[in-house]
Amino acid sequence: LFTMATEEGAGNVKRQLAKVFEKSIGETVPSEVGVQPLIAASPPNFGDYQCNNAMAIFSKIKGKNSEFRNPRSLGEAIMKNLPQSDMIESCSVAGPGFVNIVLSKTWLAKSVQKMLLEGIHTWAPKLPVKRAVVDFSSPNIAKEMHVGHLRSTIIGDTLARMLEFSGVDVLRRNHVGDWGTQFGMLIEFLFAQFPQWEDDSEIPIQDLEVYAVRYLVCGDLNSEPQTSLPLCFSMGFYKQSKKRFDDDPDFKERAQKAVGGEPKYRKAWAKICEISHYHLVSRISPSLSPPFFLRGVILSVYQGESFYNPYIPRVLEELGSKGLIEESEGARVIKIEGKDIPLIVVKRDGGYNYASTDLAALWYRLNEEKAEWIIYVTDVGQREHFEMFFHAAKLAGWLPGDDIQYPRTSHVGFGLVLGEDGKRFRTRSSEVVRLVDLLDEAKNRSWQALIERGKDKEWTEEELLQTAEAVGYGAVKYADLKNNRLTNYTFNFDQMLSDKVPFVFLFVSLSFLFMVLWEASALQLLGNTAVYLLYAHARICSIIRKSGKSIDELKKGGEIVLAHPDERALGLHLLQFSEIVEEACNNLLPNVLCEYLYNLSEYFTKFYSNCQVVGSPEETSRLLLCEATAVVMRKCFHLLGITPVYKI
Ligand code: ARG
Repeated sequence: LFTMATEEGAGNVKRQLAKVFEKSIGETVPSEVGVQPLIAASPPNFGDYQCNNAMAIFSKIKGKNSEFRNPRSLGEAIMKNLPQSDMIESCSVAGPGFVNIVLSKTWLAKSVQKMLLEGIHTWAPKLPVKRAVVDFSSPNIAKEMHVGHLRSTIIGDTLARMLEFSGVDVLRRNHVGDWGTQFGMLIEFLFAQFPQWEDDSEIPIQDLEVYAVRYLVCGDLNSEPQTSLPLCFSMGFYKQSKKRFDDDPDFKERAQKAVGGEPKYRKAWAKICEISHYHLVSRISPSLSPPFFLRGVILSVYQGESFYNPYIPRVLEELGSKGLIEESEGARVIKIEGKDIPLIVVKRDGGYNYASTDLAALWYRLNEEKAEWIIYVTDVGQREHFEMFFHAAKLAGWLPGDDIQYPRTSHVGFGLVLGEDGKRFRTRSSEVVRLVDLLDEAKNRSWQALIERGKDKEWTEEELLQTAEAVGYGAVKYADLKNNRLTNYTFNFDQMLSDKVPFVFLFVSLSFLFMVLWEASALQLLGNTAVYLLYAHARICSIIRKSGKSIDELKKGGEIVLAHPDERALGLHLLQFSEIVEEACNNLLPNVLCEYLYNLSEYFTKFYSNCQVVGSPEETSRLLLCEATAVVMRKCFHLLGITPVYKI
């Protein structure tokens, strides 16, 4: 993990404290003017933050006529020289020179209030990178999209959202596998099944649509595709072609020659891509389609492998002229230090491969698209591939030698999705689980849960559907994002959609007191799930609604006061939003944001259990604090690609 310097972010507590400490360090030790203050959140009971420079500076200056006997005395001097700041209430020195900082309650309150008035965007971190490519989702057209691509889609979408919020111009790239021998195989098989297409100079796209898609997708010509079509070929079709490919040498040879060959193949290939494109992009993108499975995921550009074909020869020529490419067993390769096998860039048969395409794509992204940070989201199984071609790009001088400077590439790897049996997640018939089915099931289950709670009598059909979708899709996305992405995770609908709580809810809403006492612990039964978080947000909205007050009016004259310790703790946590988003962006770890969001609901629950809101003398301040919490929660939901609900 690394950190990088960013411009000043207005909402960033660490950065604001750093400015104050920079002055004091420079004054205390003049040779250290301009040193970067090390500010970190404090361990419990040691204030809110601490400045940790004393030890490092002391070891640098000791013996050189320094007036300081030990790091602690240096820490004390840094503390004494702090300039007047309305951020800090008090400081103390602990251990070997840590300066512990207690932030001022008034400053915390004012900062939260300022955000409420000026908007959450004022808390957006500023990253020192103008444009990034996020390469994510990227299924292979020839095969069916599976849970691994779901992870890539969910994680990539969140990273893109976080970077966009932080002021980066993000190019979302769906690096679809739309090229390679497997296409020759599929097309050859297609021709064998539908000879009329081989002869026909114009393949009617409707036919391909109606029949082929039906066949390819459902595995037989007579079945009606469901409305939520899977995206690519059915495994059945793929498997049949593969069998023929393996069993029939003539077929194999024709298939190998097919791609890039005769016009009839190119035409068939183009049609297949067109159809896949339609099913892939238009059905994912909310603006083009009826409600589909990954609502809210924006996959703007379908720029598949074939797009980079024209650039490959040029790029390989450049690498060759730099002396990087050599001959090895009939193939052309780039040797990578420390790796047993080289990176193959031209296969023995003269064809290009995944690596040559990725090198051309990287060249294009750096030179044509002017991206400074290129981020690839795939399963960890591909780590080696990325390491190797990143290394080749460094050898070519496209990227600096280290991974801190720009332009930079990052591989965002993620673990496997496991079933409850601890094995790779599969359906009963042991096929890879289809993405659509999985999301449909999540939606149906949350729909069912709402009906069981009688919401169909209270709500319109529309409200019911929207909530079921928000909760169902939110649950799947959050279950994925909350884990450190590198770990495998176990897919469990019951856990992610647990609906035990609604009953408790019905029971506890009998009296206000009971609600306060029970609701908190009842909610926690749900654990760290999207359902819990969506409930928590909806509850805040209902508190505000039931108060009968207008937030706009309160914002005009009202003032936030953080008198109670639980109010202060909530206010401080709210204010840490900016540095958390920055950390999540820098390390490309969405789980950091999930953890923040979960803790935010916990801080809120504690505050709400111990501080009466409606009807108390502090009502105005506390309602504003409720609103600030809801605003930050909604921004977290937005960054995680989850749709908030306002009642539940
Ligand atoms: N299509 C590949 C797969 O399904 C992922 C592509 C990732 N992006 C890239 N530039 N290699 O495994």
